[in-house]
Amino acid sequence: MNAAIRAVVRSANFYDLHVYGIYGGYDGMIKGELVRMDKRDVGNIIHRGGTILKTARSKEFMTPEGRKAAYESLIAYDIDGLVAIGGDGTYTGAMVFGNEHDIPIIGLPGTIDNDIFGTDYTIGFDTAVNTAIEAVDRIRDTADSHNRLFFIEVMGRHSGFIALYTGIASGAGNIFLPETETTVDKLIDLLRKSIKRKKLFNLVIVAEGNRNGGASELADAVNRAIPDFETKVTIIGHLQRGGSPTCNDRVLASRLGYHAVEALLNGQRGVALGVVNKSISYTPFEEAINNNKPLDPDHVKLAEILAL
Ligand code: F6P
Repeated sequence: MNAAIRAVVRSANFYDLHVYGIYGGYDGMIKGELVRMDKRDVGNIIHRGGTILKTARSKEFMTPEGRKAAYESLIAYDIDGLVAIGGDGTYTGAMVFGNEHDIPIIGLPGTIDNDIFGTDYTIGFDTAVNTAIEAVDRIRDTADSHNRLFFIEVMGRHSGFIALYTGIASGAGNIFLPETETTVDKLIDLLRKSIKRKKLFNLVIVAEGNRNGGASELADAVNRAIPDFETKVTIIGHLQRGGSPTCNDRVLASRLGYHAVEALLNGQRGVALGVVNKSISYTPFEEAINNNKPLDPDHVKLAEILAL
C-alpha cells in the first residue's frame, strides 16, 4: 500500500496538484486527520509493508451522520478527488459515500486475499503468497525428514487464492479451499492409499475459511481416523500480512497509484482500478462489490493433478 500512496502523491505532484493523506482510513476522514503530503514525504517507503497512513475499521462511517462529517472534513480541506485503497469494505464505503456526496472517488484493490472482482491481482497478494511459500518450504524440511504430516493454515476467510497458489507453488499433497468440496473423508482415503503405496505426502494447505474447519480440526480428524500418523499444525497467520513487498506488488501498486491520479484528472468517478491482462481496467464500485472473483478452475484442476 505504501508504494500506491507514494505513486499517488508523486503523480499528483507531477501535475501540480496538492495531496493530503488521510490518517486512519474513513475514521480519520471523520475526525479530520488530513495531512498535506509532498513528494519528499513519501520517500523511503516503497520497500515497507503495512501503510504509513495507518488504517482502521470505522463503524461511524457506516452511518449517514458519520459520512456527512467525513464529507465536511473534505470540504474544509478543499478536497475534490479521493483515492481509497482497500478491499470490499473500503469499496462499499466509497460507493455509498460517493452516492451521497459530490466527490469523485477512485478505488485501488488493497488486500492480500486477491478476492476483488475486476483485477487479476490485488496489492499485497504476491507478497503474502511468497511469504507463505517460504514458510512452507522451511516446514517441508521437517515434514520430509521426520515423516510427519503438516497441516499449514494460510489466510483467506472467504477466498482460497492464497491457499491455492501456495499449495501449487509448494507442491502440497492436498489443498482445502473455501470454494471447493474437498472433504476430510476424501483426505483420509488419499492418506490411506498413500500409506499403501509407501508414497506419503507431508503437506496439506488449509485456507482458514474452508468448510471443514481450520488446520487443527483437520489434523484432529486425521488423527482419529489414522492414530499412528504423526500430524503437526502450523498457522502462518499475520506473518503473511507484513514485510517488504515483492517486486510484483511494488510495480502493481505504483501503476495503480499513477493511474488513479490520471483517472481523477480524466473525470472518472466511482470506479475501482485493476489490472486485467496487463492493461488497466475500470470497474464501477457496484460491479466490483457485487461480483465474486472465482478461482480459476484450471488452477484447481492442475493442483489436483500435480499432487498425485
Ligand atoms: O483482509 C483479509 C484477511 O487477510 C483475511 O484473509 C483474514 O481472515 C483477515 O484479513 C484477518 O484480519 P484481522 O487482522 O482483522 O484478523
